[in-house]
Amino acid sequence: MAKHLLALSAFSKGELLAYLDRAMVLKREAKAGVRHQQLAGKSVALIFEKPSTRTRVSFESAMYGLGGQVIYLSGRDTQLARNEPLKDMARVMARYVDGMVIRTFGQEIVDELARYSTVPVINALTDLYHPCQVLSDIMTVIEHKGAVEQLKVAWIGDGNNMANAWIEAASRLGFALTLACPAGYDPNPQILAKAQAEASQPITVVREPAAAVAGADVINTDVWASMGQEAEQAARLKVFQPYQVNAALVKKAKADAIVLHCLPAHRDEEITGEVLEGPQSVVWDQAENKMHIHKAILAMHLS
Ligand code: CP
Ligand code: NVA
Repeated sequence: MAKHLLALSAFSKGELLAYLDRAMVLKREAKAGVRHQQLAGKSVALIFEKPSTRTRVSFESAMYGLGGQVIYLSGRDTQLARNEPLKDMARVMARYVDGMVIRTFGQEIVDELARYSTVPVINALTDLYHPCQVLSDIMTVIEHKGAVEQLKVAWIGDGNNMANAWIEAASRLGFALTLACPAGYDPNPQILAKAQAEASQPITVVREPAAAVAGADVINTDVWASMGQEAEQAARLKVFQPYQVNAALVKKAKADAIVLHCLPAHRDEEITGEVLEGPQSVVWDQAENKMHIHKAILAMHLS
């Protein structure tokens, strides 16, 4: 297994399933009150240059749950804010901690940190990918549907970091993925082309949300303006209006389709309150599973 977790495409199907299996065992154990100490004496730095509720708290809780310690650093807490070169910070931090979890803007920042770090670097969201989130999402799909292979997954909305990570997951794990995105908001074309070339099931981009959800087992959406795109918010609100996940759209999928949203959600923008709170929504399980997946990731990369 790769030392760092930067993008899902770096992992084989077997390796991705190993994270999921481990997380499911850890979840069962957590419910049964089993305590772990396997990362006792170890620490991770959480370097977050964007806000976070779920990812930060679930990584912190996961590390404590394995007996380890965390050091949280927001964007303004490090000398990166005063232009210290990342390659210097990478080498220094690696002498203090056993791993780094980073949320930032460009994927090149995470790649550079990993290049110079002698300890594992975990991508907790960039503008390009949100790989740990998609592992939690797929764990949730498996819990509700038994397996992810042979399923038909729909992505509705922006071709963003979540969409790119789902595309790589579809290619590696072998499920059909149809993304409905407005023109101009497609997923990253290189990621899409590479994933399509390596996939066993179709990965397709369409314009019509109804076409994407037809026959779908899973409907997935995310905010219309990601962190860092606040200036585009008003323009995006107009463009994305036809891409709302609402009851009428959900009805066009299989009757037992589940609805995912990585949260935070904007009710009555990308998803209606009715759907988010409705019987097909699995978003709270999805949010919980972040902690179990993060435990698995920390245990597998830091042990
Ligand atoms: N889903 C997710 O990553 O949420 P946060 O931004 O709260 O971490
Ligand atoms: N696409 C969103 C995901 C938030 C968890 C963003 O990058 O803001």
